[in-house]
Amino acid sequence: MDKIYGITPHGGKLVNLKDLSEKTAVTAEKLPKLTINNWNISDLELLAIGGFSPLTGFMSEAEYKSVVKTMHLPSGVVWSIPITLPVSEERALLIDVGEKIALVDADGTVYGTMTVTDKFKPDKLLEAAKVYGTTEAAHPGVKKMYDTGAVYLGGPVKLLKMPDHGEFNDFYMEPIDTRKMFHDLGWKTIVGFQTRNPIHRAHEYIQKTALESVDGLLLNPLVGETKADDIPADVRMKSYQEILRYYYPKDRVRLVIYPAAMRYAGPREAILHAIVRKNYGCTHFIVGRDHAGVGDYYGTYEAQELISSVESEMGMQFFKFENSFYCKKCGSMATAKTCPHGEEDHISLSGTKVRGMLRDGIVPPKEVSRPEVARVLIEGMRK
Ligand code: ADX
Repeated sequence: MDKIYGITPHGGKLVNLKDLSEKTAVTAEKLPKLTINNWNISDLELLAIGGFSPLTGFMSEAEYKSVVKTMHLPSGVVWSIPITLPVSEERALLIDVGEKIALVDADGTVYGTMTVTDKFKPDKLLEAAKVYGTTEAAHPGVKKMYDTGAVYLGGPVKLLKMPDHGEFNDFYMEPIDTRKMFHDLGWKTIVGFQTRNPIHRAHEYIQKTALESVDGLLLNPLVGETKADDIPADVRMKSYQEILRYYYPKDRVRLVIYPAAMRYAGPREAILHAIVRKNYGCTHFIVGRDHAGVGDYYGTYEAQELISSVESEMGMQFFKFENSFYCKKCGSMATAKTCPHGEEDHISLSGTKVRGMLRDGIVPPKEVSRPEVARVLIEGMRK
């Protein structure tokens, strides 16, 4: 067993559910097969590599209900988002509780196995209201959840095949490895940064402000499924490398992908994001304005407020940042906490506006986006 360095994993133990042996793979081929989608595969992977520690499988009915209603696992550990395996009612009829099944992708490749301990009908309206704060199907995360099967399967899993991350493979690390890396770098305090966007000046400002107080930054962009109008992960990854090359000290930042799907669950997802980064070895986590939000579903600081309500149970520390912008009078990035000037002096553009400019080949103002980043994004969007 490899040594586990750094901060105590969530729930006490870094989970490892990988079994990549040839023998297991051969045996799994003989099991009844259940086809799962890319989202499920990314959840399976995060379960297996310990990103979702202390979970050891897709949630049982008891775990699911407890998480939806109380934001805690039955064991009492904080957990904010259900990790579930939905199947159609027809498919569920063919699976018995107690059965061991193989989890395969659309091509029939076996990725894992699961011992089905639970088969239950979730109350999706309640899940939507509690987890997403809305039952509206216009919310992208809620819609995704409504569109999945009406029955959830629960039970422990094993990962038999590592998903291939293609062009991102060089930036892939498991939690056990990022922990070792931080140890080898001599970093004792590490701040994790979640993003599904390119790094603009506001992101850079809050990251660097945090970096003034800790040893290193784990830039950990989410590269799993996102909604269609978000900037694709491959384009973003190029832009991250570009900004790191020109504007960040090499020895204080590491870029590692977070291979999960985006839920857009705002406050609840902020907690999940923090938990996972703790498992990757981060001692600190950044939560800015409208973290993991979409549209107007969440208040600007609702994610920070929800985190505050469980902060003492999280075993890690948080950097909570106000909305950041460039102030022309200050001649620097600032927030309402540090700038005395009015909105007319502030330059900040919404993500939607910036994406629109980039799509039209327009370089946003340098106070909003670094020109090197904008060039990569314009080029990427053109393709
Ligand atoms: S997220 O969906 O992954 O949270 P995004 O990539 O935009 O979205 O944000 C990454 C992090 O930066 C989040 O913690 C978010 O709250 C924070 N953030 C984004 N823009 C700003 C801003 N202008 N001021 C302060 N924090 C911000």
